[in-house]
Amino acid sequence: MRIEPLDASAHRATAEATIKGELPFGRVFTPHMVVIEWDKQQGWHGGKTVPRANLSLDPAAMSLHYGQEVFEGLKAHKQDDGSIVMFRVDAGAERMQRSCERCCMPPLPVDDFIAACEALTATERDWVPQRDGASLYLRPTMIATEPALGVRPADTYLFFVLATATGPYFSKGFSGIRVKAEREMVRAAPGGLGTAKTGANYVASMLSAVRAKAHGCDQVLWLDAIEHRYIEETGASNVFWVEKGTLYTPPTSETILKGITRDSILKLAPELGIKVQERRISLDDLLAGIRGGSISEMFGSGTAAVVSPIGEVMVDERIVKVATGEPGPLSKRLLDGITAIHRGRGPDKFGWCRKVV
Ligand SMILES: Cc1ncc(COP(=O)(O)O)c(C=O)c1O
Repeated sequence: MRIEPLDASAHRATAEATIKGELPFGRVFTPHMVVIEWDKQQGWHGGKTVPRANLSLDPAAMSLHYGQEVFEGLKAHKQDDGSIVMFRVDAGAERMQRSCERCCMPPLPVDDFIAACEALTATERDWVPQRDGASLYLRPTMIATEPALGVRPADTYLFFVLATATGPYFSKGFSGIRVKAEREMVRAAPGGLGTAKTGANYVASMLSAVRAKAHGCDQVLWLDAIEHRYIEETGASNVFWVEKGTLYTPPTSETILKGITRDSILKLAPELGIKVQERRISLDDLLAGIRGGSISEMFGSGTAAVVSPIGEVMVDERIVKVATGEPGPLSKRLLDGITAIHRGRGPDKFGWCRKVV
């Protein structure tokens, strides 16, 4: 499907003034969006770039009642030479297809997903900040629109892409967060929705996140749903730890989101001379390793922050500091390694950047 970008030069002055300022994550939306519709007769059709506006949605739209909604998150970066690239857009397209399959929604062809992201990025080229860590964050989303009550897959869908100009995630510098190990509630259970990027997983996590925040924590550290014992991921990132110099992350399962940043780190680490392995670890072993000094670093990986150092783990009201609580050297090397690819400073050996303009 061909989706034409719009000439958005009338917004250039506003864009240039806005992206010089503070850009808190997910707040500064750009003036356009891309929409594509689906129905049984035509399949995916009518892709176009339009001004961003409220949707006209029947209050009986099935996404509002039964949660048929999936989304993605990816970034477009302005490189040092001024070109704008999207990072791993194909991986986002493929993950959305898997999310659709799990939620009985019609998968959008990978090429149409890419065309939609490309058209919006080209339209909003003036909104891409050029500082390290800053980007245009794209939010491809799909919702069921058919107005009907009764639990079954809907007959009509809307796919849209929004864009937000986003400043460096660590505006106060790269620093460690505090996570709260969750011993009671679970994010996802075997056979459930854990690997789908669907709103249901996020509302399932919200009460725990609110309680964690009340304890001064930034994120929840989820444990497995069967034994409440093994580390899974945090609220919005996969988890890594460094033990005796080797980097580890739990193997993804049907309860852990297959993070694209996680995958990038697994591929990039050996290139940087960092040994990396997938391995399960129990909370008890993690704490013993931290206390004994064999675990020297921990971090979360995700599109938003890329690498988010974990400085403290709270367990049953006790706080355990990971080494000094400050970001460790491997976390920093990995962040720098991925940032170099984003900004076009190093070779893009894996072909992760797709040039838009
Ligand atoms: C629950 C969860 N796990 C992991 C991730 C990291 O995934 P990615 O690296 O693809 O952003 C995210 C981020 O979207 C997430 O929400």
